[in-house]
Amino acid sequence: MNYDIKDIKLSSEGKKRIEWADKDMPVLREIRVDFQKTKPFKGMNISACLHVTAETANLARTLKAGGANVVLVASNPLSTQDDVAASLVKDYKIEVLAIKGENRETYYKHLRQALKHAPIITLDDGADLISLLHSDFSHLAKDIKGSMEETTTGVIRLKSLQESGNLNLPVIAVNDAKTKNLFDNRYGTGQSTLDGIIRATDMLIAGKTIVVAGYGWCGRGFATRARGMGAKVIVTEVDEIKALEASMDGFVVMPMEEAASIGDLFCTLTGDLHVVDTKHFKKMKDGAIVCNSGHFDVEINLDSLKKMAKKVNKGLRENVNEYVISDKKSIYVLAEGRLINLSAAEGHPASVMDMSFATQALSCEYVVKNSDKLNKAVHNVPASIEIKIARLKLKALGVSIDKLSPEQKKYLASWKIGT
Ligand code: ADE
Repeated sequence: MNYDIKDIKLSSEGKKRIEWADKDMPVLREIRVDFQKTKPFKGMNISACLHVTAETANLARTLKAGGANVVLVASNPLSTQDDVAASLVKDYKIEVLAIKGENRETYYKHLRQALKHAPIITLDDGADLISLLHSDFSHLAKDIKGSMEETTTGVIRLKSLQESGNLNLPVIAVNDAKTKNLFDNRYGTGQSTLDGIIRATDMLIAGKTIVVAGYGWCGRGFATRARGMGAKVIVTEVDEIKALEASMDGFVVMPMEEAASIGDLFCTLTGDLHVVDTKHFKKMKDGAIVCNSGHFDVEINLDSLKKMAKKVNKGLRENVNEYVISDKKSIYVLAEGRLINLSAAEGHPASVMDMSFATQALSCEYVVKNSDKLNKAVHNVPASIEIKIARLKLKALGVSIDKLSPEQKKYLASWKIGT
């Protein structure tokens, strides 16, 4: 079996982590048991480019239980859990090519190897694999039944590819499913971003002024959790509706240029470029901390900060670099501006990844069953899959809900009954 991981001897720690996560992934477990019987992917090659975590390991096991030959590579050079990668290879016989801290060259070497596996299905978190399927590996696109996309940034990239008329295979926007973004983006990012910040800095959140850039599901999750721990939260936005929502949710809303001189900590969750830029660094206080929880490391203009700095002191703590601007001012950057929740912490908790990865697993099965009907476009996850996952999760949580009575159904279906 082909693999490229840090150290196979880390496998026993990884196995414990995978099993621990699995306890909190009841929906995915149920799907795995089902796949074991029905084998929807019998003999099929699947290549997945996802964060290599304990939760992803359980997704890979689920696809393998369904009969697939799975290859897993990292979707971010800093997010790989090396012990998990080792256990996947040793204990679960799943091919993994991912090493925490791998450089750009190795990162892309691994992605290319994942495509040499000649997949029929691909899974992406950020659309890096699919982007290769539109360049060096475009000859493989015709054999692919469908490609799943896990994250907002990836879906945005793929929709622009579709609009340009160049999308060369069917895509399922897993991120856009309610069972994904309402929970993973909001509660997952909310908690794991704070977790990453606290693990990196050990700072007290209470009383700090935290500036949250972006009020999508991720931003609102993080803003809410930071407020819950006693921070004074400022939100910055470019979208009028989201800004209004943040304001009515009780947050102070202002432009980044104004917030720059007030914030103790800045966290970007926008998916866009240079949200924290030169003009903002100039206004920041001594000791300001900057981090990112958006998919790519482009939201903080680090090149500019490097140019402004007299000196960079690396590794003050494991994920903290100091940019010395003057004798009186330093700015601290966490995890080199990469995803703080996966670089400095363990990503979203298993309970929420359960729903995201159940959505992934059932979307893969949907693609196999419906490949003749899916054109080269970005498709939504069918509502029937969302409802199935919500039902299974409610059951696992022991939560029961009401049912519409025949009388209520009739009322809802009628336009006649008025005032
Ligand atoms: N994205 C965010 N958190 C994650 C996790 N725990 N595993 C995989 N992908 C993630």
